[in-house]
Amino acid sequence: MIKKMKILITGGAGFIGSHLADSLVNRNNEVVIIDNLSTGKLGNINQKAKLFNEDLVNHEKIKEIFEKEKPEIVYHLAANINLRKSVEDPLHDAKMNILNTLNLLEIGLKYNIKHFIFSSTGGAIYGDAKEIPTTEEYKEYPISPYGCAKLAIEKYLNFYNKIHGLKFTSLRYSNVYGPRQNPDGEAGVISIFLDNMFSGKNPIIYGGIQTRDYVYVKDVVNANILVLEDGKSEIYNLGTEKETDVIEIFSKLNKYFKNRFEPKYEEIRKGEQKRSCLSYKKIKNSLNWKPQIAIDEGLDRTYCWFLKNEDVKNSHQKTL
Ligand SMILES: NC(=O)c1ccc[n+]([C@@H]2O[C@H](COP(=O)([O-])OP(=O)(O)OC[C@H]3O[C@@H](n4cnc5c(N)ncnc54)[C@H](O)[C@@H]3O)[C@@H](O)[C@H]2O)c1
Repeated sequence: MIKKMKILITGGAGFIGSHLADSLVNRNNEVVIIDNLSTGKLGNINQKAKLFNEDLVNHEKIKEIFEKEKPEIVYHLAANINLRKSVEDPLHDAKMNILNTLNLLEIGLKYNIKHFIFSSTGGAIYGDAKEIPTTEEYKEYPISPYGCAKLAIEKYLNFYNKIHGLKFTSLRYSNVYGPRQNPDGEAGVISIFLDNMFSGKNPIIYGGIQTRDYVYVKDVVNANILVLEDGKSEIYNLGTEKETDVIEIFSKLNKYFKNRFEPKYEEIRKGEQKRSCLSYKKIKNSLNWKPQIAIDEGLDRTYCWFLKNEDVKNSHQKTL
């Protein structure tokens, strides 16, 4: 029987955080969520989890939540995830992604949390790496405030570990996809294309030959669960070591719609990475994690979820 723990998830109403909450609740843990529902949804939240609808920027309120709940573990996922917005407004990004995280760490220390598990990024931290698949030893070279903030937090985590003995894990995700990914904004090309197609719109492809490493959300959640017992305070990549380009993603998805969509091609956006693909050797060797869901199966599952989702289904039916 796995020991029941009190676990706080920031961003637990979001795409990855809500799947993580489900998995932790299923393992008999007590889950508390802090989320301001800016991109997350009430409907994503596990019924057995306790929600604090709060913004991390309200540092005093966050402290009160720790005082009341006294979580043992913190999974920190809440973030400004919009990379382009971070380029437009680096100060805002730093407030959200650096200062709010430092505040959480300070409060976490005060209330003696046992482990801080951070959702970092592989793509934005390594930039256009020459080594593919990219390992954790590769020199980080973020060129966006979003990537800089994630890297800065990893450095702070080292500080909190070395000076205060706080145990941490940082997981550098590649491109995560799957059910519940919010298609609004910038996040995931797979959910954006599916959303377009279900509403009868031809997706726009910017460039098209740029590659990404698509990792299915359940695999990411499994890694988050595995690291709970890992006491080494490490940084691990989470990817599949496989590259898929955007045109290929479009073609795979178009098949679900009997190939009736024609993409609109536009110039690749300035500053966009050409390739991104992560090695998962380190976490495989340490914790025996490897991705279980190949891209075709993950796309089937994501497509089926979109199909079952009432809102999407309704708009789809209107376009048929
Ligand atoms: N999705 C990916 O491909 C990917 C890749 C690399 C890293 N990540 C990281 O994983 C984490 C989760 O990403 P996601 O894709 O699930 O995004 P998401 O937008 O679905 O989830 C983020 C959640 O945090 C909440 N939130 C945002 N700002 C907040 C604030 N100030 N206070 C309280 N709540 C706030 C949102 O409402 C949302 O529920 C993020 O830290 C992101 O940087 C994601």
